[in-house]
Order: sequence, then structure tokens, then C-alpha cells
Amino acid sequence: MKRIAVFASGFGSNFQSIIDNVKQNKLNATVELLVTDRPNCMAIARAKQEKIEVYSFDPKQYTNKKDYESIILSHLKKKSIDLIVLAGYMRLIGDTLLKQYPGRIINIHPSMLPKYKGMDAIGQALCANETVLGVTVHYVNKEVDSGRIIMQESLDITQMKSRDEIEEKIHQIEHMMYPKAIQKVLEELYIESLD
Ligand code: GRF
Repeated sequence: MKRIAVFASGFGSNFQSIIDNVKQNKLNATVELLVTDRPNCMAIARAKQEKIEVYSFDPKQYTNKKDYESIILSHLKKKSIDLIVLAGYMRLIGDTLLKQYPGRIINIHPSMLPKYKGMDAIGQALCANETVLGVTVHYVNKEVDSGRIIMQESLDITQMKSRDEIEEKIHQIEHMMYPKAIQKVLEELYIESLD
């Protein structure tokens, strides 16, 4: 069974959907660890509820990314993590983790990448008068929301009446899509391990 760590900074609804899909045997993995840079975020409460170990840190306590990522790395190694799943983690991943987990770090982003990278992707798309929004799961590299695409789904918003309605639909897509994309990546890792 492959072992995953989820990195989150906020509400953690994607984290929750990953946990739920594991429980329903739709995702063949174990969630071993939550890593967070926000010691009071909702994702921590979800982890506690599910008895998932948490490593929480305050980036302000460190002089650079290498310092805190080295500690994260020791927690990942201790738990023999196979795949890092970013779910609303609001930081760029640095060389320390990228070098140790090549092709094993993925992210979900609420836009049809390569369009609208970075913060408030839905707002950016709406400002540009897009009628089709979407969600992308992709591999993580050094740059913001730029790695190879794993899965993508579009959403036609022409009949939608408010930003709330659009956001709700985007989140629904995310919650369906991310566990499926994780399963796909894990199956590919398994096949690679047989080669
Ligand atoms: C999601 O919209 C995800 O696409 C983005 O951050 C948000 C996290 O939401 N990367 P949640 O914390 O999982 O509810």
C-alpha cells in the first residue's frame, strides 16, 4: 500500500475528500501525515479527528526554505512517504524536497492550466471574461503551477448566476478529481517499481 503525505495551509476540504476516498476504498493508499505551515488551520482539526499525524511549523521561525524543508524531509522519511500531495499548500516547494521526491509531488489548481497560475485563479479567469473555467492536477516543479499536467476538467459557467455557485462547482470537481488523479499517479509509480 502506497503511503501519502498531504500538505495543506487552510480549510482542507480536499484533504478531507482524500481521507474519505481512502476510507471508501476508492483510493488505494494510506494518509500517513499532514504537513502544514499554518498551526491553526482547519486541516489540522480534520487530521486530529481522523488520528492522522500532523507536522506543523511556522515558516517565520526559519531563516530559509532549506531549513524548514530539511525538517519536513525527516518527517517524510520517518513515515516512508511515497507521494506528496499538495492540497491548498500556499508555498512553493524548494530543491530540498524536489530532489528527494522527483515525480512524486503533485498539486491541484482551480484553473485550466497553463492559464491563470498563482493566487485567486478563479478571480483571474472571471476578470478575463472566461466562460469556461476548470481544475488541473499537475506534477510540481520549481515554478508556480507549471509542472506536467496529469488530469484536467473544464466547467462551462455560462448558465451560472454567482461567483459562489461557480466556486462551489469548482470544489465539487476538485473533490471528485483529486482522489482519482492520486490513484492514477500511484498506479504509475507501482508499474515503475516493477520495471
Ligand atoms: C483548492 O481550490 C485548490 O485547488 C487550491 O487551494 C484550494 C484548497 O482548498 N490549490 P481546500 O483547503 O482543500 O478546501
